[in-house]
Amino acid sequence: MDKRQQGKRTSKDLQLDQFRTDDRNKKLTTNQGLKMAEDEHSLTAGERGPTLMEDFHFREKMTHFDHERVPERVVHARGFAAHGEFEAYQSMEKYTKAGFLSEKGKKTPVFVRFSTVVGQKGSTDIPRDVRGFATKFYTDEGNYDLVSNNMPIFFIQDGIKFPDLVHSIKPEPHNEIPQATGAHDTFWDFVINNQETANQVMWLMSPRALPRSFRMMEGFSINTFRFVNAEGKSRFVRFKWIPVLGLHSFEWDEAQKVSGNDPDFNRRDLWMNIEMGNYPEFELGVQIIDEKDEFKFDFDILDATKFWPEEEIPVKVIGKMTLNRNVDNYFSETEQVAFHPGHVVPGIDFSNDPFFRDVSFPTRIRS
Ligand code: HEM
Repeated sequence: MDKRQQGKRTSKDLQLDQFRTDDRNKKLTTNQGLKMAEDEHSLTAGERGPTLMEDFHFREKMTHFDHERVPERVVHARGFAAHGEFEAYQSMEKYTKAGFLSEKGKKTPVFVRFSTVVGQKGSTDIPRDVRGFATKFYTDEGNYDLVSNNMPIFFIQDGIKFPDLVHSIKPEPHNEIPQATGAHDTFWDFVINNQETANQVMWLMSPRALPRSFRMMEGFSINTFRFVNAEGKSRFVRFKWIPVLGLHSFEWDEAQKVSGNDPDFNRRDLWMNIEMGNYPEFELGVQIIDEKDEFKFDFDILDATKFWPEEEIPVKVIGKMTLNRNVDNYFSETEQVAFHPGHVVPGIDFSNDPFFRDVSFPTRIRS
């Protein structure tokens, strides 16, 4: 185990050990495990002859290389991730039977992927855009995915409009301009024809769309879930990540310059701070509404375009996440990870939020 995997390890870390591999001091092999002396010369018929079909290792190496991409995510293609740990501040048993929230001090390994939404994999880190903030909790009862964005609401009220929204915000169809941002006609056509986007567009035009650092970004579940306790009593809940460093953004001109100088600014900032031991921390907050209060508010609490006002529905802080380890391999960890709002554990359930009609939809998972 290398330096980065050491430190305080929970029983879950130990359980995950069986899936970790260490290639040091092992012989070089083909993908089938056949030992080989080297893999840098192909087999030819004579010194200057053609390459032979029987060079099965050459063919395997090339075939593997030719297929070593999974299709780019339709949205959130550009992302950056890190490992860490979540610690519960208190028992939430009154509200949920979820084991990872059941006792004070309980620690759970996590993996977090931050992302932009519109841009392709190679686009800049700092366009004017929403940011994704997806967390996988490796709990004793299975993996729980908290899929969130850095703004508390969404563009649309019904998941069926999601393809239209995304097609409109992606680059113009004729010239593929602009990259990574919504500043163009097809997106504004969508906005003026769907008044429900007005609230989200205000957030998108705010500095929140230009985060200074992933370490200084909030995260919101947006969707309304349920907490269910051991007696079966259920309450509505929305989740919020709160950065311990506070919320900080770029000014527009600043963002232009930084993005031009270093399109990898946000990922470099996260990587370097973790390498320096400057571990990013985020507190987890929940807003809870009793079922009897479902219709108490002057807005629909299941509507993703509506913010749950924090002065009316206070945020209860229930734990803290610390990101303390960079990935060993970007492709196998950051690129291949799959988040899905349908990955819940006992104690966390769905509401009738219209977005959850889409929860079993296979495109929301990497395959
Ligand atoms: C019905 C509405 C929605 C649909 C159809 C949808 C669809 C998708 C798809 C297809 C992906 C790419 C998955 C992949 O290739 O791995 C994705 C990723 C993502 N979505 Fe959504 N989405 C919806 C709503 C939302 C909402 C409301 C949020 C915020 C709470 C959200 C946050 C994210 C995040 C953070 C990712 C990136 C996950 C990662 O880092 O891999 N999505 N979504």
